[in-house]
Amino acid sequence: MPMILAANANAQGSHVSEWRHPQAWEAPAANIRNAVRLAQIAEAAKFDLLFLADGNGVRQMDKPDLFAATSPSDRPGVLEPVTLLSALAMHTSNIGLVATATTTYDEPFHVARRFASLDHLSGGRAGWNLVTTSNPEDALNFSHAEHVARDLRYDRASEFATVVKGLWDSWAEDAFPQDKESGQFLRPSRVNVLDHKGTHFQVRGPLNAPRPPQGHPVVFSAGQSDTGKDLSAAHADCVFAIEGSLSAAQRLYADIKGRLPKFGRTAEDMRILAGVTIFVGETAAEADALLQELDELVSPAVGVDYLSKMLGRKMKDYPLDGPLPDFDEEHVGHTGIGKSIIRMAREEGLTIRQTYRRILPQMGGNMFKGDPMTIADTMEEWYTSKACDGFMIAAPVVPTGLERFARLVVPELQRRGLFRKEYEGATLRDNLGLARPSNRFFAAGS
Ligand SMILES: Cc1cc2nc3c(=O)[nH]c(=O)nc-3n(C[C@H](O)[C@H](O)[C@H](O)COP(=O)(O)O)c2cc1C
Repeated sequence: MPMILAANANAQGSHVSEWRHPQAWEAPAANIRNAVRLAQIAEAAKFDLLFLADGNGVRQMDKPDLFAATSPSDRPGVLEPVTLLSALAMHTSNIGLVATATTTYDEPFHVARRFASLDHLSGGRAGWNLVTTSNPEDALNFSHAEHVARDLRYDRASEFATVVKGLWDSWAEDAFPQDKESGQFLRPSRVNVLDHKGTHFQVRGPLNAPRPPQGHPVVFSAGQSDTGKDLSAAHADCVFAIEGSLSAAQRLYADIKGRLPKFGRTAEDMRILAGVTIFVGETAAEADALLQELDELVSPAVGVDYLSKMLGRKMKDYPLDGPLPDFDEEHVGHTGIGKSIIRMAREEGLTIRQTYRRILPQMGGNMFKGDPMTIADTMEEWYTSKACDGFMIAAPVVPTGLERFARLVVPELQRRGLFRKEYEGATLRDNLGLARPSNRFFAAGS
């Protein structure tokens, strides 16, 4: 099984000031031409898939400096991801097309229908990243006064995924003969009416689309908590994981794959992708210089607001060159990222300025930086020592960061026999080495 490479298809690179860099796109907001170009760069390099993260709320309006300067993961001016991927499907032929949709503020019927349609029009290249929504303020756009409580979100997510998969199985493969001669468009005996009546959803079905070419579009998820990992083990084909060290990534890999038997699955049924920002240069010095250039484009006001975002605490009231206050870890942020920032600053005695400079390059996630051999060595080590099955790659600056990775690192991975030179199959499942799911209601050949 070759290493999996996924490309973050966000129009902005992963550094907060990347869009100001001379090598970044002009006018990245809602720009279809850029998106097509990025997809073609990734496909020419034989990437498995493009991934569009998503949310439904405009963020950081309470942090004016960051709001005006924008941060890549806030995405205030983007295109709706399945709409965008549908357009990209027409400009590509092999690469997988994966987008986020929320189980908390969407309906299973809508999600099943959108991704079935994307799978049909791309010839079996669709993937759905199942999230319960990480931004609490998204709730305000969907008739909720506050974010749905965590346990309820996860309970709803599990039922949601079961309904979506049931809807994808609405029709047998031979349900639509469309025979002009006999006048039979469809076979009434080859449709299943789901008739789901559960805790959160009542969905009669069937879906108004034939079974997707992949059977089920590939399901992704990214939970880091216990409930999140169980949801992945029950429903996901691929998991995005973010860990900052090899040993932590190995532990998480073993943990998530170890949960599969509980749900009647095996390690072969799932792929785990490590999220990483890659700074690569012809030389290590060139990679360092890029980071330095990006750092210099961040004003202290934006840096401090960015730290406020990551910690979930207002940082403007503290002196820039004073120590990061020793906040109680339990009261920081919504995720583990805030806690690890506090720990790092405490252990290394960092000031506020030093702390934000440390986290900016990789947005609190993981980073590989250096010359092509160093990057390939690190990727090989993670891949062969069971820290991941591949990588979800963000470039610090787009499109140049992705082009540089494609030109400098991909050939080295291919030379080592770690990465494909040609796509193995026609569908995303084929390329990921994942089996096509059988139909729950119509056994093969029935
Ligand atoms: C690579 C990656 C991509 C993610 N993409 C999204 C996204 O597009 N939308 C979203 O709301 N959350 C996204 N998340 C957040 C996760 O869905 C999840 O909320 C987070 O990892 C915390 O895990 P937990 O919910 O188990 O605590 C992403 C996480 C990772 C690691």
